[in-house]
Amino acid sequence: MNTVDDLEVSGRRVLVRADLNVPIGGNGIRDDGKIRACLPTLNALLERGAAVVVCSHLGRPASGPDPAYTLAPVAARLSDLLGRPVVLAADTVGPSARAAVTGLRPGGVVMLENLRFNAGETSKDDGVRGAFADELASLADLYVGDGFGAMHRRHASVCDVAARLPHAAGYLVQAETAALERLTGDIERPYIVVLGGAKVADKLPVVGGLLGRADQILIGGGMAFTFLAAQGHGVGLSLLEGDLDAARGYLERGARCGVALVIAPDVVVAPGRDSAAQGEVASSAAIPADRMGLDIGPQSVRLFAAKLATAKTIFWNGPMGVFEIPRFADGTRAVAQALASGGAFTVIGGGDTAAAVRALGFPDDAFGHVSTGGGASLEYLEGKTLPGLAALQADDAPAGAPATAAGSIA
Ligand code: 3PG
Ligand code: MG
Repeated sequence: MNTVDDLEVSGRRVLVRADLNVPIGGNGIRDDGKIRACLPTLNALLERGAAVVVCSHLGRPASGPDPAYTLAPVAARLSDLLGRPVVLAADTVGPSARAAVTGLRPGGVVMLENLRFNAGETSKDDGVRGAFADELASLADLYVGDGFGAMHRRHASVCDVAARLPHAAGYLVQAETAALERLTGDIERPYIVVLGGAKVADKLPVVGGLLGRADQILIGGGMAFTFLAAQGHGVGLSLLEGDLDAARGYLERGARCGVALVIAPDVVVAPGRDSAAQGEVASSAAIPADRMGLDIGPQSVRLFAAKLATAKTIFWNGPMGVFEIPRFADGTRAVAQALASGGAFTVIGGGDTAAAVRALGFPDDAFGHVSTGGGASLEYLEGKTLPGLAALQADDAPAGAPATAAGSIA
């Protein structure tokens, strides 16, 4: 795989696909870890005389441009962190993007608007995605893939552009794959995986992939309710997503192959996530119909901490509860503490999980590696080929530098 160091970038326009999908709340960006993570690549390109066109998705806008998902706050934060202006185009590949890119000089930075404002980005149709990739590719001479957190997505900016421009992997992708390498192959055991979080439908299949690899899988957060429902328990108003038959199948397979799937035995419940009411503890097998599970309970905390204390290798993805609300943060804090204070090699995966541990006051160096990828790192650990990595490895780009539609900047 080519790296940024292999590219001649001076005087060239470089399209960088980053994963700047940061958590944004009422007061703006809640955690800028993903923006900081792409600085080494961006700074190296700029110092070497490139003009940078940076692009990313943000959230999951339903269809077309939506101001709720603008990258404007991200562009502003990136500008602060780079110490140079970042021009945000008002569109992704339209007239505003073209004008901004045409005006770029070496050392300059343009950010395209949210890639997912264009249906071509995520289309399942190769032709539709390819047409969008053609437009993206026409904005630059070279392509750098550095959005590790999106590399499990077969999307135009992640996969198809690499086939259209000379390309390389960014430094973040190199650092991520080097760290995650330690969790594949010869793993120091016991190896325990902790899963939680909210993108349950996405991540459920990963459990199947990890059954043959991990010694134990501890399940809390939003994912616990899918397994509880699969066991036949009511989950009240709790988040319930994903295929219950699949969850049941994983429970059976886990039992057969001796991998313990440990579902949080108790939860903290409340009438709703905005309710001012204090949470109460309920057994996971008896969640009242009018209550929502918002954190794992104290018995789960003790059980998970005891198991994690025995591990030599731990991977954790997904908060144990709605940690943004302090009274539902105890489970997430306890798991973070168990990782930080034990002797295992620990990897935290996912923007939300990384944001959670930072928000709870844990420094990044309390853990072996903090990955920007949640779904991406999970699929990597399952042994799957990430489409974005495969695209960077493929040697199918046009040789040499093609003429840029937007004209020369030299
Ligand atoms: C993430 O936050 O996990 C990545 O940015 C990918 O986002 P997605 O799950 O919406 O594709
Ligand atoms: Mg994620």
